[in-house]
Amino acid sequence: MTQRLVADRAGITRAADILRTGGLVAFGTETVYGLGADATNAVAVARIFAAKERPTFNPLISHFPDAAAAFVHAMADGRAHRLAHRFWPGPLTMVLPRAAGCAISDLAGAGLPSVAVRVPDSDTARALLAAAGVPVAAPSANPSGGVSPSRAEHVLDGLEGKIDAILDSGPCAVGVESTIVDLTGAHPVLLRPGGITIEALREVCPDITTPHDTSDARPVAPGRLSSHYAPTLPVRLDAQTVAPDEALLAFGAELPGSPLTWNLSQGEKLEEAAARLFAGLRFLDMEGRRRGLRAIAVQPVPTHGLGAAIGDRLSRAACPRPR
Ligand code: TXA
Ligand code: MG
Repeated sequence: MTQRLVADRAGITRAADILRTGGLVAFGTETVYGLGADATNAVAVARIFAAKERPTFNPLISHFPDAAAAFVHAMADGRAHRLAHRFWPGPLTMVLPRAAGCAISDLAGAGLPSVAVRVPDSDTARALLAAAGVPVAAPSANPSGGVSPSRAEHVLDGLEGKIDAILDSGPCAVGVESTIVDLTGAHPVLLRPGGITIEALREVCPDITTPHDTSDARPVAPGRLSSHYAPTLPVRLDAQTVAPDEALLAFGAELPGSPLTWNLSQGEKLEEAAARLFAGLRFLDMEGRRRGLRAIAVQPVPTHGLGAAIGDRLSRAACPRPR
């Protein structure tokens, strides 16, 4: 049984108790719902991988109520402090060397000498993290490889009965996962585009590079599978036309001819498109299958600003997948 908890004092206290005693609690953040466990408790962390049926032990992001709590476990330099000051709480994850007193389990960190830390911009999430008093490891709260959940019902669709509780704080405002920046080297490296744009990061870290900028083979974030965020129906990108047996994920003016359309943003606003992305993929997949459609066609989305994160998630959703 999965307990549904309301995001009030009592619900937050109950959720924190479950986390502290090794249980799994899904909770809303500004990006997507996370599946949380005490990051210092390897048995609890192992339960995350089991519930998600994640094939490999990818490193997880640990969540904290504030920067001071995060920097007990991760070694922060000047760049990390500047980024925290500008973007936390918010959709930025920093990969930093483990601090001497780091209590994050090797399983949560996948045995790496670094840890990924973030302070989410959600009052409920931060109240939960403060009440739990431990680093909380949390990948997106969906079965491995599927579309990330931006509402509590999406979490229950995939994980009902497999997790102890869900703390419902309503829909997620940003809708795509956090931007991940690796600060373990001489230059910051963007590992995953996300809710904080590269343009905004450059204002604080002008020397930030993406893995594609450098010829040396810097690893992208470990465990980032090329097929991910995948609906059941095939996804076709950059559609210039749409067939009568295709669902349409539109952006701006809709292509004519589809029997089923979800518009990410009629007014071509990237913030609105990011917030509606995962709900749209879920809707078109479910309703499209019910109506016997054969694919989801996706209209082009600009690549600047939040468009980089949207494009990254869509290209993974379109990747051929082993199923
Ligand atoms: O917005 C988000 O970041 C959401 C919410 C719940 O906070 N969480 C999330 O977690 O997207 P997840 O597990 O889907 O993504 C974590 C990714 C891993 O796939 C891995 O690539 C990267 O973070 N990561 C974690 N630790 C790392 C490390 N030490 N070095 C490099 N990358 C790391
Ligand atoms: Mg995920």
